[in-house]
Amino acid sequence: MQYRGSKTPPFAGKRSVVMDGIITDSRGANIGAVVRTFRRHGDGEVIAEHDLLELDEQFRDKGFSTIFTKMSEAWYRKAGISRIQLHAALDDGGKTWAQAGYTWLPDLDRLDYSLRGVSERLRLMSYSRTITDEGRELVEHMRTRIEEALKQPRTPLDDPDLPSPQELVRMSTEAEPDLGRRIMRGTSWYGAKYL
Ligand SMILES: CC(C)(COP(=O)(O)OP(=O)(O)OC[C@H]1O[C@@H](n2cnc3c(N)ncnc32)[C@H](O)[C@@H]1OP(=O)(O)O)[C@@H](O)C(=O)NCCC(=O)NCCS
Repeated sequence: MQYRGSKTPPFAGKRSVVMDGIITDSRGANIGAVVRTFRRHGDGEVIAEHDLLELDEQFRDKGFSTIFTKMSEAWYRKAGISRIQLHAALDDGGKTWAQAGYTWLPDLDRLDYSLRGVSERLRLMSYSRTITDEGRELVEHMRTRIEEALKQPRTPLDDPDLPSPQELVRMSTEAEPDLGRRIMRGTSWYGAKYL
């Protein structure tokens, strides 16, 4: 990976630093992009915002993201970064970041957006003729749990029955082992991971 950012030392008089990188193959050809923002909050907490990770299609599903994420998190822990935030979106983000253990970002507006979007995806999926009756029942059950959580007066996170992104992506039936992955792929939600 090559770093294209500025050469100034991190946080030299700034509240945030943007790392804008290109990912190259062994011959140096550009095969993807990565953008991260490191933001220092008023209380001194530093948060890593994962703005973008995108690989050319032929380089996906080969484990790059799994290893890159593991290495990044180890570095963040050493650097005192306590939280990662992201918008799980594009083709695979909704599925990939649910599998990677991200939970719902607690910010109320974004949480509402995330849960309503995923609930709508579940609703559409329950109409699909590509799922079995057992799958449909599971999908409806998850959707009901989200809708019930959305009725909580303070925050949906107060509902212990709110499914996590991980629980959703792991949905499966005997005939549909990848049901949750199919559903979460293409969803758009805001996530956080606490280190
Ligand atoms: C999201 C993205 C960056 C993930 O990166 P990636 O390097 O493809 O991710 P990984 O290879 O680590 O993991 C993806 C899958 O490959 C599998 N995998 C990982 N290593 C593997 C290996 N050595 N052999 C076979 N499969 C492997 C993982 O288990 C996972 O499979 P699953 O989805 O069936 O569970 C990439 O798919 C991408 O660029 N997508 C389009 C852009 C996008 O959606 N970005 C997210 C924006 S928020």
